[in-house]
Amino acid sequence: MKKVELNVNGIPHQVIAGSDLTLLDFLRDTLHLTGAKQSCDKKGQCGACTVIVDGKAVRSCLARVAKLDGAEVVTVEGLGTPANPHLVQHAFVLSGAIQCGFCTPGMIMAAKALLDRNPDPTVEEIKHALRRNLCRCTGYAKIIDAVKLAGRFLRGETTPDEIRPDPDGPKTGVSHPRPSAMLKACGVAQFTADIVIPGALELAGVRSPHAHALIRSIDTSAAEQMPGVVGVLTAKDVKGTNRLKYIVADRPILCEDKVRYIGDPVAAVAALTRDQAIAAAGAVKVDYELLPVLDTPEKAIAEGAVQVHADRPNACFVQPLLKGDADRAFAESAVVVEARFVTQLNHQAPLEPEPCAAYLEGDGDDAQLVVIGRSINIHKHLQMLQEGTGWENMRYEEAYSGGQFGIKLDITSEGMAAVAALHFRRPVRYIPSLVEAMQMTSKRHPFYMDVKLGADAQGRLTAYRNHFLADSGAYFSNSDVTTQRALHMLSGSYHIPNIDAHDTVVYTNNPWTSAARGAGPPQVNFALESAMDMLARKLGIDPLEFRVLNLLSPGQSKATGHVVEEWPVLGLCEAIRPHYERARREAETHGNEVLRRGVGLGTGSFGIGSAGDQATVAVELDPDDGVTIYGAVADPGEGNDSMLTQIAADMLELPLDRVRLVTRDTDHTAASGPAAASRLTYMAGGALVNAIEQVKSAMVEAGVTPAQAGTTTYEQMRQAGVKTRFVGVRKTGYAGPLDPKTGQGPSFESQVHAVQLAEVEVNTETGAVRVVKMTTAVDAGVVINPLNLVGQLEGGMDMGVGYSLREQYVPGQTKDWASFKFPTMGTAFDMEVVIRETPRKYGARGSVGVGEMTMVPTAPAVMNAIEDAVGVRITDLPATPEKIKTALVSGG
Ligand code: FES
Ligand code: FES
Repeated sequence: MKKVELNVNGIPHQVIAGSDLTLLDFLRDTLHLTGAKQSCDKKGQCGACTVIVDGKAVRSCLARVAKLDGAEVVTVEGLGTPANPHLVQHAFVLSGAIQCGFCTPGMIMAAKALLDRNPDPTVEEIKHALRRNLCRCTGYAKIIDAVKLAGRFLRGETTPDEIRPDPDGPKTGVSHPRPSAMLKACGVAQFTADIVIPGALELAGVRSPHAHALIRSIDTSAAEQMPGVVGVLTAKDVKGTNRLKYIVADRPILCEDKVRYIGDPVAAVAALTRDQAIAAAGAVKVDYELLPVLDTPEKAIAEGAVQVHADRPNACFVQPLLKGDADRAFAESAVVVEARFVTQLNHQAPLEPEPCAAYLEGDGDDAQLVVIGRSINIHKHLQMLQEGTGWENMRYEEAYSGGQFGIKLDITSEGMAAVAALHFRRPVRYIPSLVEAMQMTSKRHPFYMDVKLGADAQGRLTAYRNHFLADSGAYFSNSDVTTQRALHMLSGSYHIPNIDAHDTVVYTNNPWTSAARGAGPPQVNFALESAMDMLARKLGIDPLEFRVLNLLSPGQSKATGHVVEEWPVLGLCEAIRPHYERARREAETHGNEVLRRGVGLGTGSFGIGSAGDQATVAVELDPDDGVTIYGAVADPGEGNDSMLTQIAADMLELPLDRVRLVTRDTDHTAASGPAAASRLTYMAGGALVNAIEQVKSAMVEAGVTPAQAGTTTYEQMRQAGVKTRFVGVRKTGYAGPLDPKTGQGPSFESQVHAVQLAEVEVNTETGAVRVVKMTTAVDAGVVINPLNLVGQLEGGMDMGVGYSLREQYVPGQTKDWASFKFPTMGTAFDMEVVIRETPRKYGARGSVGVGEMTMVPTAPAVMNAIEDAVGVRITDLPATPEKIKTALVSGG
């Protein structure tokens, strides 16, 4: 131990520190300064813990307090407060650099340290200084903008007041800062692990190291004797169904007799500290009897394969799609291309691991179990937990969430935490390690697609075949929904009169799969848009002209037979054309024998929500004539708080700060559905519009006039006996599933569209690909907040490039952000967004959501650019240097 004196945010502290006490733990656990986050198991990989020590940016998880005698430490809390922010904090808020905000405190501190020593850094200097800080949401572009803007502020070239949109000006179509942005910039937005629960037990999971095995016995006796251990839970301690049922009741909170993938939960250890729980988890002895491992869908559907679930076949969902007569059309086609396309198992990779807290409010059987976590669908998840644990009186509270990208469509740590809080009758926190969080969460479905695409001699598409196997992994989650969404969007942006598709979802012993940004359409779009370029090449037609020739038009039908009313893709093709022509010219003049430039296109048309979707949002007039919006409208970083606030302020002509939100608590909201399928602007925004229209109608009917001196609208309505709370509902106009035999049926009433351009440079010696630039032309209807919109599109492109070139989750091997190949400032590339606004007939004031759009066409655009550069076609993702080099050596 050593006595150390150090200053933190100007306050002196004396600490008697052991040699292993990290600065991060001291800040968070002792001083309760939770602005500094941790994401990477303190391996120094994420930068979320960055603070300034003696003027330098330091990853506080790597710094030992015992070595900081006399140090001056500044955390994000010491920089500024929401009432009095620092200029760097202003810059991040005003640049749209804050989405989920989990990376933000670390980014801000790294930026501050840079600007203190270099007030006018170049982009390369910014990238270098922030190279150790990860962000999953932004694609880094807005963060670089924020550092540049902060430099201008600090150099006195402009001020936040000059940059900030006029709060009294228009409320929509303007980039007003997000309501939560400054809280995140100042490190005071509370994420789950930041919530202080004195005396809470800490949990750690015991997880299977085997992909498929029977559990013969579990011996908890040694673990129970370890220091600090309060108890060890197994399946027999779960009082409810012990299932977390999204659609199918197949996923246990704790496994009973069998494990089905590496990471399946077998037991939960509760201890006084997290370190004690983790140590004891390692002492739980599980006797397994190994079973054959089915690690591909082909093995799982082979004759005689063992069933992953005794009560369901491995081919657990099947959906054909038949439109027209594909066989005849192929026979009459002038050209066809055929290939097998494969996409990888991938992690959605939100920066925040899967924390959860649970405690009982009240006593005895009447107590209410409160679960706090990062749900994006609190009402659905509440119901799942009630059934799984057998405890009815429960509420779910959504904390601030460090990104999600589909991973929180299902619940994870909440199950164990709820069971433990009920069993021990004590508050619990479950803050999993990154490796455990990676094991417990869903992944993106791998697809194995056998594809054939045909066209006539003029280049018009005639027929399309895509028979695919989708790997559901060990559990089903929403695999039927995900793969049906793939079928709904199978024909992409095009008119294809004859289609023969077949979707088979297969249980395997891989990690379970579920929603992941785009969820299904990115996989099938990779196949279709790759085949489009292959066909254009065969026909000798320019890829852009070939796409224009085959675009769907209003009045024509998609793959499912659904006739579309709106289809503004032609305008996007024209918007991308000058960029495409510029890129083509540059590709010819840049590069050399080793570094070759290429240009590729991809289009995408993404359905919003689903057929038969519904959302509910209530609006209540407040005594000061502001309003409070009640709705379970999760915001894991997309900007849904802005969307609700700006629509309400615009429609009711209110200042933005008089719109209040109650969105995070099941006791105070009605269900608005998940923050998924890019649906919340369309659905929850639509429900809000409906509620406000009712408010306005009620005011007119009651003869309420705008507030005069001495009275308020609220008082006038109360005196007139008019209610002040109105419930808005938004339902999509079409309902019903696809026909189980033909896959024909109702589909989305609106979509978002994109045409995307990739410019790459391929090293012919190493096979390495550098993305030079991505440009996207997008039409999402009327824009509510331009910076939020662009931020979603940039983040999707960055994620799409990671999916294209690097990212893959390998069970048992992917254990941290380095082995996952998380995108960094170093892999960031130039991005340009072109916006077109075609008001949507059914949109919320003409708007639709956009969160998943650019994830969809990025991978094929990059693969098409690689072929354009070096003549090799990569058909299995990711396109690693090894694959490209092998293809180059073998001649493509
Ligand atoms: S927690 Fe320090 S770098 Fe990740
Ligand atoms: S805003 Fe950077 S990780 Fe979410």
